Amino acid sequence: MRAAAARAEKILANFPRARLAHTPTAFEKLALPSDAGAEFAGRGFFVKRDDCTGLAMGGNKARQLEFYLGAARAEKCDAVLGTGAGQSNFLRMLAAGAARLGMECHLQFEERVENPNADYRNSGNRLLGEIFGAHAHGYPAGEDEGGADAAMEERADALRRAGRKPFVIPLAPGHAPIGALGYVDAAVELGRQMDGKIDLVVIGSGSGLSHAGLLVGLRLQNIKIPVLGVCVRRAAAAQRERVLLHCGLLAEMLGGGLKIDESDVWVDDSALAPGYGAASERVWRDIGMLAARAGLLTDPVYSGKVFSCVFELARRGGLDAFRNIAIVHTGGLPALFAYREKVARAHIMGVSAPRERD
Ligand SMILES: Cc1ncc(COP(=O)(O)O)c(C=O)c1O
Repeated sequence: MRAAAARAEKILANFPRARLAHTPTAFEKLALPSDAGAEFAGRGFFVKRDDCTGLAMGGNKARQLEFYLGAARAEKCDAVLGTGAGQSNFLRMLAAGAARLGMECHLQFEERVENPNADYRNSGNRLLGEIFGAHAHGYPAGEDEGGADAAMEERADALRRAGRKPFVIPLAPGHAPIGALGYVDAAVELGRQMDGKIDLVVIGSGSGLSHAGLLVGLRLQNIKIPVLGVCVRRAAAAQRERVLLHCGLLAEMLGGGLKIDESDVWVDDSALAPGYGAASERVWRDIGMLAARAGLLTDPVYSGKVFSCVFELARRGGLDAFRNIAIVHTGGLPALFAYREKVARAHIMGVSAPRERD
């Protein structure tokens, strides 16, 4: 095991990297009281605290950005461009990372969420993006990844004409999944922390880069436990295909002939509804419960859905084969301020609402 981890680290060292994240992140037991629910009895839940990666309030994207911005720096780029939702954690941390490395930064905000209110438009991640001095641009669609990438390329062309050297971070799959390298690194950390005692790892699956990196990183070390990706952006079939594509490209980048089979890409979309950027009553209830009973913050777009999905699968008997479950907490916490009104209710729901199904 130790030799496999060292081999994975040696492979990762071939890729340029800008140190931005506080790692290794903590790995801790989720401390829930015994009356929290029958689904928690006789089972250990552990949390990989990637919400505490340090860069501008943390989250999984700090790990991805180490490799994107490392590549940008290695190519001597002086500007970076990224695209995401109005409350994108990625764009918040991209702005922070670019500021740290002295690069000009262009953030493209897509319209992914229906009828966003003033908090969604102005607070949380969006507000923090501004403080780093990045240039903000709008993009009218939310489901057109190719179009969003093309708009960034146009902006990059204009920067080139002005004598700049821009680095574009694409959104659509099919490009070298550089960001996933950050989760190969996380898999090495996790492999050491799990120490053979965990039998399921769970992570949010949006762009799918973290999920793919974690899966490939564990298999690279010959760790064969299942990895469950919780869908936060699109339905399971499309997400499986996307993650599988990333895994193939990532394995090629790493070399060594690793192959990820489709049957190894486990995704579950039962916490996705009502859709990206909106959470069901059940998710809000679990966000409230985690805060009130375990002192743990999660968000309604990503991490709250991940924990809620795990808890619901456990309630329904879908995780009976697993005793010790590790959940990667990918952060997203600044978005809580963008959902202020719902957050105020979540505490009451989590503590006192009956556990009926939505
Ligand atoms: C907080 C948080 N968790 C999870 C994800 C999903 O990660 P990925 O896009 O690598 O699938 C994101 C992506 O934006 C995120 O911001």
